Amino acid sequence: MMYELIATTVRGLEEIAINEVEELVGVKAERDTLTTVGGQGRIKFKADEKAIFTLNYCSNSLHRVIILLNYGEFSTLHEIYEATKEIDFAKFISEEQTFAVVASRFATQGSHDFTSLDVASQVGQGVIDSFSESTGKRLKVNLKHPDVVISAGVVDNRFWIGIDTTGESLHKRKYRVYQHPAPLKASIAYAMVRISAWKSHEKFIDPFCGSGTIPIEAARYACKMPNFLRDFLFWRLKFLPLDAFREEKERVDERIEHKNLEIYGSDVSPKHVEGARMNADAARVSVKFFEGDATKIKLDYDRIVANLPFGLRFGSPKKVAKLYKNFIQNLKEYHWKRAVLLTASQKLHDLAVNYFKVRKMDIIYGKLPSFIIICER
Ligand SMILES: C[S@@+](CC[C@H](N)C(=O)[O-])C[C@H]1O[C@@H](n2cnc3c(N)ncnc32)[C@H](O)[C@@H]1O
Repeated sequence: MMYELIATTVRGLEEIAINEVEELVGVKAERDTLTTVGGQGRIKFKADEKAIFTLNYCSNSLHRVIILLNYGEFSTLHEIYEATKEIDFAKFISEEQTFAVVASRFATQGSHDFTSLDVASQVGQGVIDSFSESTGKRLKVNLKHPDVVISAGVVDNRFWIGIDTTGESLHKRKYRVYQHPAPLKASIAYAMVRISAWKSHEKFIDPFCGSGTIPIEAARYACKMPNFLRDFLFWRLKFLPLDAFREEKERVDERIEHKNLEIYGSDVSPKHVEGARMNADAARVSVKFFEGDATKIKLDYDRIVANLPFGLRFGSPKKVAKLYKNFIQNLKEYHWKRAVLLTASQKLHDLAVNYFKVRKMDIIYGKLPSFIIICER
C-alpha cells in the first residue's frame, strides 16, 4: 500500500533530506508546502510501508516520519473536528490501544484565536467519535505513554492530521553517553559530512570535535550503521506489516560494514576527547581522536568538517574572533579538498573569503540562525 508521508528535518537542510530519502527508498521527495510556510524543515513524498521502516531505522537527516491522513483549509475549529472524523481510525488503532494527539500551531502574521491545545482537543474528539462510529467502542487517551500518537498541525488557515511513526526525534541517536555542553544535532553533523562530499577512502577530520558528533556521523554513514540503539513508534502500529519489518531489520543489520576508515577528531580539551571516544564506542564505530589545538595542528586531510565555538556560551567575542583568525591562518597552509564549517558569526565567513572560494548555507540551529560555510581552494 502507498502512503503520503511527511518527514521533518533541520530548516535549511531540506535538500540533504530529499537526497537521502531518494538514496534510501528510491522515491522523489519535495519540500512540503502543505503543512509549513515555504516548505521549511519538512519534505513530502509517496512511498510504501517498507519506506516507513527504512527511513526510521536508517535515515540520518530526518527527524520524524508522519503518515499524512487528511489536510485542507479551515475557517472554524469545528471543521478540523469534522476532517478528523472523516478518517476511519479503526483502520489505524485497535480497541485495546491508547492514543494521544500532539498538535502544533503557527500563524505567519498575528495569531489564531485558539491554542494548539484547542486543536489537539478537537482532533482527539474526532478520533474518539470516528472510532466509536466504526466499532461501537470508546478509545482511551493516554497522554504519557500512548500506543498511537496522532500528529496535527495548523499553519495559518491550513490544517493537517497524521500518524507519527517515529516518536522521539531521530536526531537523538542514543550514543551520547558523554554530554558536551554545546553538542551539535546529529542530523546537522550528518548533513555537513554529506556537504563535504567526503568519500570513505579519504582522510577526514573535525579539529573542534567536542564530543565527536561529526566524525561519529561520518563513520556511521560510511559503515551504513542504522539507528539501532533506540525505539520507534511504528513498532506499535498494528496496521503495518511488522513481521516484514523484523525481517528487513535483519537484512539492514547484516549490511553494516566495519571498514578501516581514516576519520579523525581532535579538540583542545582532553575531557572532551575522552568523552568523544566513549561516544564512538557506544555508537560502535571507529574514530581516531587526539588532543590538539586547531590553530596549530597539521591540517593534512582531504575533508575538514567542524562546528566551531560560537562564543555564546563560553569565551568572549574577542577571543572567538582571534580563534577564527588563527584557525583560518592554519587552514590556508594545507591542501585539503573542501572545508565545511558551522558558525553563527559572520566573522569566519569574512575571514575565509580572503583565501578561499566560499559558499554559504543558512540553517536554523535550534532557534539560532546560523550558517554553514563551504570552502574550496
Ligand atoms: C561547539 S563545540 C563542538 C561540539 C561538537 N560538535 C559536539 O557535537 O560535541 C566547539 C569545541 O571546540 C573546542 N575548541 C575551542 N578552541 C579550540 C582550539 N583552539 N582547538 C581545538 N578545539 C578547540 C572546544 O573545546 C569545544 O569542544
